[in-house]
Amino acid sequence: MENDKWQKLLDCAVSTVKQAAEMALEPGIELNIETKSNRNDLVTDVDKAIEQFIADQMTAATGYPVLGEEGHEVDSFEGRVWLVDPIDGTMNYIETRRDYAISLALCENGVPVLAVVQDVAAGKTYTATLGGGAFCNGTPLEKVDPDVDFQQVVLLTDLKEIRALPRLAQVLAESRGHRRYGSAALEMVEVAAGRAGGFVHLWVSPWDIAAATLICTETGCLVSRFDGSNMDVRQKGSVMAAWPKVHSGLLYRLVQAPN
Ligand code: IPD
Ligand code: CA
Ligand code: CA
Ligand code: CA
Repeated sequence: MENDKWQKLLDCAVSTVKQAAEMALEPGIELNIETKSNRNDLVTDVDKAIEQFIADQMTAATGYPVLGEEGHEVDSFEGRVWLVDPIDGTMNYIETRRDYAISLALCENGVPVLAVVQDVAAGKTYTATLGGGAFCNGTPLEKVDPDVDFQQVVLLTDLKEIRALPRLAQVLAESRGHRRYGSAALEMVEVAAGRAGGFVHLWVSPWDIAAATLICTETGCLVSRFDGSNMDVRQKGSVMAAWPKVHSGLLYRLVQAPN
């Protein structure tokens, strides 16, 4: 029933994101790379064109306001709001043309209720609706294993997090291994899809994680701030998304364990 409630909106969101993926694959325009806050914070004309396309489509279809990384702003998160990251992993888009995503979420009073994360290079469309489960290309994602702990899984994080959280280095050493793909949305989806057990990032924005948060929670993952406090996707901050026992293990070892 839940799914029926969202199906038309989900179809519209998926169709728009897939058209946007074609724009990323065959841009037909110069990338025209610009630097934002620092030399590794980049934006291209393709990011901007995709955000404009998605905003135009979703506004025309629903009239709901759109918040996007590349300029679309909202006055408030009251009611329904679309959150778009036109390319999550712009550095990958520029340098390797893989491991980048288009992320589109619908939030209701700040809570994600519908999500699409497109792994463009892999041609995979991850979707979720609140209470309706998560899917990859229409096939349900299985629930994650609640009884596995962090020593048995691959963890996803970055050097910046290891520097900021010195205890993380030892945790990673005890895990099955660590990886970093360079797209927060895709890294969270890796956790939801059962290929990694946990993801820690200290500096994410609403558009990075709104859609992936719902995909994670619909597969039984826990999503919080790194210190265990409640996730509010409207605010910038940290994220820890992990299978339940991995999450409690990480929380204990990173935050709660005595020195
Ligand atoms: C970035 C990616 C990256 C993360 C950064 C994000 P962008 O998004 O998700 O993996 O480490 O914090 O800003 O800028 O490529 O959309
Ligand atoms: Ca960016
Ligand atoms: Ca992003
Ligand atoms: Ca982006």
